Amino acid sequence: RRRRSRREAEEEKRKKFAALIEEVEQKFSTPTALLRGIADAMVEEMEHGLRADPHAPLKMLISYVDNLPTGDEHGLFYALDLGGTNFRVIRVQLGGREKRVVTQQYEEVSIPPHLMVGTSMELFDFIAAELEKFVKTEGDDFQLPEGRQRELGFTFSFPVHQTSISSGTLIKWTKGFSINGTVGEDVVAELSRAMERQGLDMKVSVLVNDTVGTLAGGRYVDNDVVAAVILGTGTNAAYVEHANAIPKWNGLLPRSGNMVINMEWGNFKTERLPRSEYDSALDFESLNPGEQVLFILSVYFQLYVGLKEFWFSVPQIYEKMISGLYLGEIVRRILLKLAHDASLFGDVVPPKLEQLFILRTPDMSAMHHDTSHDLKHLGAKLKDILGVADASLEARYITLHICDLVAERAARLAASGIYGILKKLGRDRVPSDGSQKQRTVIALDGGLYEHYKKFSACLEATLADLLGEEAASSVVVMLANDGSGIGAALLAASHSQYAGVE
Ligand code: GLC
Repeated sequence: RRRRSRREAEEEKRKKFAALIEEVEQKFSTPTALLRGIADAMVEEMEHGLRADPHAPLKMLISYVDNLPTGDEHGLFYALDLGGTNFRVIRVQLGGREKRVVTQQYEEVSIPPHLMVGTSMELFDFIAAELEKFVKTEGDDFQLPEGRQRELGFTFSFPVHQTSISSGTLIKWTKGFSINGTVGEDVVAELSRAMERQGLDMKVSVLVNDTVGTLAGGRYVDNDVVAAVILGTGTNAAYVEHANAIPKWNGLLPRSGNMVINMEWGNFKTERLPRSEYDSALDFESLNPGEQVLFILSVYFQLYVGLKEFWFSVPQIYEKMISGLYLGEIVRRILLKLAHDASLFGDVVPPKLEQLFILRTPDMSAMHHDTSHDLKHLGAKLKDILGVADASLEARYITLHICDLVAERAARLAASGIYGILKKLGRDRVPSDGSQKQRTVIALDGGLYEHYKKFSACLEATLADLLGEEAASSVVVMLANDGSGIGAALLAASHSQYAGVE
């Protein structure tokens, strides 16, 4: 009798387990019809943002870039690319249409974590000091005509309210940065002051978001690039819009007729996004304490005024479901739940599994790409990172499955966003009037896209599926590796104070 009841208990446990997994599967599923709805919502929100609707989640920021590189750019230019845990300094000698990029050099510097939550001045002083060191190593391969000031393109990958091509104020920090005293300030002025303090004579000629830099860098190598998407620590997109389709633009109509828009799509939201309790919990405990307080206050306020969709105020929802900073953390949260409620890793929940952000997306990717029959690499990661002493084969397979669900949802949601942009541009279908198909190229960059192969494969397959065979045959997704830095240098060249002076 005792044996039978143990068997029954086992059976019950198994059932509970299966039900839990099924629940996660269901919450993370993104059927194609849902993705189409999300893409439509994206198009709608793009329009709201272009009209400056005050409640529009998509800011659709005007970049002041109305001309993309042509290939004629020449001279020595610098770029500074700040947006994640590293920043890069770049110099490039451009040789015009014939010679293109003659030489380039770069250096990557990691930002000490305390500076990501310190003061604005400390951060910019650190950056200016590194830039100054880099400038000092400029060799004979680089030539600056006599009497000219060095010029820099500044790629700053945060939402900025641009006031000109070379100035703009920070709207908010994202991606775990939380620095006092920068919001509302002109980031170019901050950088320029830090460079002065450093004794570095250099002019910031352009200020761009990384998506805008990537679009410029992409266009330099392929004339059909119309949009750029970053899938890295954060996620965002920029694209070329017709200036007369931007109701909030009240400047002169640019000669090109176009204006690059930085969508800040990380903040996209629609009630159609399949949000799970893991996503909501992540918001509450996310990295930016300021946002947390604001969020809680806004929940109270909105409950008070009776709005049902109170989560509408949650910042960066789309980004938190897609980008590299968060995917590993979502997996950790699901594993923790399975460990608690269904003893996934035995009777004791490994204490490390409780630690926020301990599972980074590159480690999740390594687990997800384990092709050994007994998942031994995945097992080793579970042990090293999460302190799971001896995960059973079944537990390892379940972990793999969870990685799959989380990565696939992210890739499919990102694909639906790209599909939304193509729809907005009318490039999601074959022309019905029989005119020639237009080739469309999307420049993609970011570590998540570049290194997480299952993610990028799923994104590309989903986009092709959404477009359908015929339309998909004229859409190309191109890896624009580190295009944002070169792109900023190219834009610095076309906006140089010496442009036109020989
Ligand atoms: C975040 C930033 C955005 C940037 C993106 C990718 O979403 O707000 O400006 O483009 O990350 O780096």
